[in-house]
Amino acid sequence: MLIADCWQLWYDKVMNKIAVCGKGGSGKSVLVRLLADGLRRHGRRVLVVDSDESNTGLFRMLGFARPPEPLVGLLGGKRKLEEMLEEAIRAGTPEMQVDLIRQPLQPKDIPPEYMLEKDGTRLICIGKILMALEGCACPMGIVSRSFLKRLRLEPDEVVLVDMEAGVEHFGRGVETSIDCVLVVVEPSLDSLEVAEKIHELAGQINIADVWAVLNKITSESIAKRLTEYLDKRGIRVIGEIHQDAEIFESSLEGRPVQSGVSSYDIDKILDFLFP
Ligand SMILES: Nc1ncnc2c1ncn2[C@@H]1O[C@H](COP(=O)(O)OP(=O)(O)OP(=O)(O)O)[C@@H](O)[C@H]1O
Ligand SMILES: [Mg+2]
Repeated sequence: MLIADCWQLWYDKVMNKIAVCGKGGSGKSVLVRLLADGLRRHGRRVLVVDSDESNTGLFRMLGFARPPEPLVGLLGGKRKLEEMLEEAIRAGTPEMQVDLIRQPLQPKDIPPEYMLEKDGTRLICIGKILMALEGCACPMGIVSRSFLKRLRLEPDEVVLVDMEAGVEHFGRGVETSIDCVLVVVEPSLDSLEVAEKIHELAGQINIADVWAVLNKITSESIAKRLTEYLDKRGIRVIGEIHQDAEIFESSLEGRPVQSGVSSYDIDKILDFLFP
């Protein structure tokens, strides 16, 4: 085994890379914000990776005045990445094995315009679909996958990846270097079914730690019904976030997301993740 591989293995053991997944609108970005805040209070350094190619407002939810420059720009832009991808495939590399970032990197290697920092939280954005007819988002999925694979962290650092809604990112292998998947489940059958699918897909790439977080909970009986459904399918619920007018208002007004009645809900989730 090469020294670089041993080094990678050591880092892999101590890394904390958490992907936040779930149905569209279930509350993934809200959970990322609440986790980032909570983790900082617990003395962890947090890096949020915005891997959602469509929604643009995560920076506001986290309290940043503007978004960072997209990482695809640092790597030469979407067109160049498409060309690199096509070239690698022509040369016989299966798409799932194409690496658009070849060197290991640490957060400190990323230039400041591509990684903003505020109150101890850092934010990186992979890239957004900006124009009609600009082609598929494949290069962004591959950048997400390569970046998460190459990213090396210190033991007190945690990466929170805000995923695109649904399950397409599993098809692109974005989660292959992820330690743990949190599935946000709101009270709807669609949301439960997406959670089931995510659990199944994560199992196929050997991610053992797939846990559900219930969101927008209005009563104990609703939480119980969702928990029973998920339990039956082998998905453990590690916490719940109540329907919270303050979260709703702050999202509506484009302020940093604040919790009100659900303020202590995140602590139980963090206690489970980082005992
Ligand atoms: N616990 C909560 N209480 C009240 N409102 C909530 C709660 N969680 C989320 N919301 C509302 O739901 C909306 C969607 O949340 P959020 O943007 O986090 O979902 P998402 O899963 O990231 O969506 P997308 O799939 O579009 O990225 C927010 O604008 C917010 O108003
Ligand atoms: Mg979102």
